[in-house]
Amino acid sequence: LVDGELKTWNGKTTEVYSTISSTENYKPTVLGTIPELGEQEAIEALNSALNAYDNGQGLWPTMKVADRIACMETFVKQMKTKREDVVKLLMWEIGKNLPDSQKEFDRTVDYIYDTIEAYKQIDRDSAKFEKNEGVYAHIRRGPIGTVLCLGPYNYPLNETFTLLIPALIMGNTVIFKPAKIGVLLISPLLEAFQNSFPKGAVNIIYGRGRVLASPIMGSGKIDVLALIGNSKSANALQSEHPKGNRLRMVLGLEAKNPAIVLPDADLDLTVDECIAGTLSFNGQRCTALKLVYVHESIVDEFNKRFTAKVDALKFGNPWEAGVKLTPLPEIEKPAYIQELIDDAKAKGASILNAKGGDTTKNFIFPAVLYPVNKTMRVFEEEQFGPVVPVIPFSNIEEPLDDMAQSNYGQQVSLFGGDIKTLAPLIDTLVNLVCRVNLNSSCQRGPDVYPFTGRKDSAFSTLSVHDALRSFSIRTFVASKDN
Ligand code: G3H
Repeated sequence: LVDGELKTWNGKTTEVYSTISSTENYKPTVLGTIPELGEQEAIEALNSALNAYDNGQGLWPTMKVADRIACMETFVKQMKTKREDVVKLLMWEIGKNLPDSQKEFDRTVDYIYDTIEAYKQIDRDSAKFEKNEGVYAHIRRGPIGTVLCLGPYNYPLNETFTLLIPALIMGNTVIFKPAKIGVLLISPLLEAFQNSFPKGAVNIIYGRGRVLASPIMGSGKIDVLALIGNSKSANALQSEHPKGNRLRMVLGLEAKNPAIVLPDADLDLTVDECIAGTLSFNGQRCTALKLVYVHESIVDEFNKRFTAKVDALKFGNPWEAGVKLTPLPEIEKPAYIQELIDDAKAKGASILNAKGGDTTKNFIFPAVLYPVNKTMRVFEEEQFGPVVPVIPFSNIEEPLDDMAQSNYGQQVSLFGGDIKTLAPLIDTLVNLVCRVNLNSSCQRGPDVYPFTGRKDSAFSTLSVHDALRSFSIRTFVASKDN
């Protein structure tokens, strides 16, 4: 979708695979093909976005608030009619189970409605006058310019739209390149974009990330890089922009969220929350629990109950009832998880659960590794998959020191029963991460709350309200008269 047109393409195409296969001799299924656009088409999309922005004078950035809201409402109304198509593709392309795929779609729709409401509020607030030292100020929030938006495979709809929608509604123009996996599911929505927004306001291009993003960044004409993914890509793209060090960036990056289980934790609740936290969507969430610290006095009991529940999780195709574990969409992921397991075993850990590490097609059964220590790769690397490192501790300073040394700082889950112990710990933890979850697993939602992180985990904040601020500039009209 470039310059308001759904273009046809006669050039090179790429096959999109699903790792879900019904055949006995496992072979990935071809779901469809997408255009593999090149540098020229990337620049065409860039020019379309620049023309539509027209240095802040274009139709979209100058449109009245009520009209811009009407465009967004038209879009979300049309989007809702595509629920079934998108949910089906979420299951086939990324292997997300049915309830979670439906949740991803519905949550994205809610996010759009919440963004519209928050935008109305920003406009109302902007209409207020402030007076200081005899000067009245009429504050306004306006667009920044042109935004390059790149999303991840694990939430190809929700996470991408939590960048794209606030960027758009603030009056910026956008170039959006979907993730490599989770791309076909954007196709049912292309017409809704085309029908709802002025031409060039939103441009959607398919192809390889670096091939398309590099010329756009290299042009130096992008004002905001909005990316949920990894720091390696974010750093590389920033360095390609001639004024990269002054570029506005909205980034959601890696995390290594720990659970800390204190001796007086309610073990049944803790085990259930740790199962959800470590293994929902096979652990492929930036918010997943990726290290589980358990006090040495209860670690044996925790391991017994935890491993029994892990082995009871049902593996299958995403649409089957009760399925929690599904094929991994990245072909190379099982081999990577196996490397982490082998490395940990060679350095003294064991797989505690009977099914841990069993491999079927593009799936590896979650392995609970114990005891994990700092020398192991799984301690350091963001596994983003089905392997759970359990670390015993005797003194609370041990997990706290590890968190202080970590490159990441998104969230923590703290399990314990006594508020007198928890309260001072919370005071320490809020300076290490951005969200402390008490007796519950880490997660992004509710989406109106701030979603961010310290250190290499994020740059800027992505709640509904904060995202509108991240994609806008505050200006004001100053006057001596009211
Ligand atoms: O991958 C990161 C997602 O934002 C996680 O969202 O906590 O709702 O699964 P979630």
